[in-house]
Amino acid sequence: HRPAHGARRRALTATVPLALTALLASASPAGATTTGGAGAGDPYFPLAGNGGYHVAHYDLDLRYDTATRHLDGTAVLTARATRRLTRFDLDLSGLKITGLTVDHAPAAHRRDGQELVVTPRRALRKGQTFRVTVTYRGTPKPVTDPDGSTDGWIATDDGAFVAGEPQGAMTWFPANNHPTDKSSYDITVTVPQGRTAVANGVLVGRRTHQGRTTFHWRQSEPMAAYLATATVGTFQVRQYTTRDGIRVYDAVDPREATAAAPVLKKLPSVLEWESRLFGPYPFRSAGSIVDHAPDVGYALETQGRPVYDSAPDVDTLVHENAHQWFGDSVSLTSWKDIWLNEGFATYAEWLYEEQHGGDSAQKTFDALYARPAGDPLWAYPPGDPGDGANLFGTPVYARGAMVLHALRTAVGDRAFYRVLRAWASEHRYGHGTTADFERLAERVSGKDLDAVFTTWLHTRGKPSRP
Ligand code: ARG
Ligand code: ZN
Repeated sequence: HRPAHGARRRALTATVPLALTALLASASPAGATTTGGAGAGDPYFPLAGNGGYHVAHYDLDLRYDTATRHLDGTAVLTARATRRLTRFDLDLSGLKITGLTVDHAPAAHRRDGQELVVTPRRALRKGQTFRVTVTYRGTPKPVTDPDGSTDGWIATDDGAFVAGEPQGAMTWFPANNHPTDKSSYDITVTVPQGRTAVANGVLVGRRTHQGRTTFHWRQSEPMAAYLATATVGTFQVRQYTTRDGIRVYDAVDPREATAAAPVLKKLPSVLEWESRLFGPYPFRSAGSIVDHAPDVGYALETQGRPVYDSAPDVDTLVHENAHQWFGDSVSLTSWKDIWLNEGFATYAEWLYEEQHGGDSAQKTFDALYARPAGDPLWAYPPGDPGDGANLFGTPVYARGAMVLHALRTAVGDRAFYRVLRAWASEHRYGHGTTADFERLAERVSGKDLDAVFTTWLHTRGKPSRP
């Protein structure tokens, strides 16, 4: 499933500011200027992503000096124009560009905030595959999000915690930085010998030369830019293959090792349990990156291998790995649909507790429902957080999970689990919207669910009945 870009773009011109609307591309005759556009049309992050092309593959070659915090990078993007382009944008925040070519020819470029505006020597034809090579360097700075948290390349005392939700991918590589665009990745990172660089997918090469070690990672399944990582630290590494043939790579900061060990041991059983509920695990690799990054304050479901700022508990392990189905394999088309990620991953925790000697999901639901009308839980409906500052709030996580529990109560367990599996399989490696999910739930269950979704997902305030 791919979003209908034309339709989305038309719909969005109503919601984005006028200045931005002027930047969005319009059809024009050959020979005229046709720009890609500065954003993918997301109302919360209007400059995130870009118009006019898709990236098929990123080949990132990085070198990080953990002592000076200096990053040197070469990014080779293989992309395809979705319309004629005399100019297009990439997203890049900070860093200095030392070279930029399109199909090996030097291309004019300028910086404008997070926009890197590229004018290739010759216009790109609609449908043309082209290659952009950017060399860059500098000290990466994380971005500050509307909720005050930071993400991107976050330096630690022994390396860097690298997690890009929702905006931070552009702090370490030039990207089409919106989940509507998914790509395969080769990520090669050179670090001082003794440090380990952990990215997504499978480790395909590793060599040490003159005091530096190079790690080459390959993510073959489609991945949104925000789910890429290249976390660097002093890590204890463990590698094994599960009974289902999934390649596991665990990297653990020694300061977190004692607390992490009993939790990481459960990963194979958690993935087996989630596979029974949600369908086959979507990726060929798995694992955990357990960093010691006390200033970060969150974990991220980096694809195939979540990154944790400290040793996770079992619920967090369940949560981040549930995202591999819901969020990573099935991606958002718009950040306002974030409950499709967080509500689902939170409900996975409830189900895990229910089936492993903890509280029933009903009991968890009831305890939340008991909260008074003025509680932050009811501050906004999960289907419309209203603002990028609310993406990771309690109404998205907890009330988002309540939506799924209300659905389960309405359709019964058999139909409910069929809905979850159908969502994961029909949108595998693709995208989905809230409206897509509502339609799918009605189709699979054969029930009219309008009242359930209106009440739990879309209506402001505490619902009058549980
Ligand atoms: N998706 C992550 C989780 O719930 C949270 C990411 C929070 N990001 C941030 N910039 N605050 O597992
Ligand atoms: Zn989450």
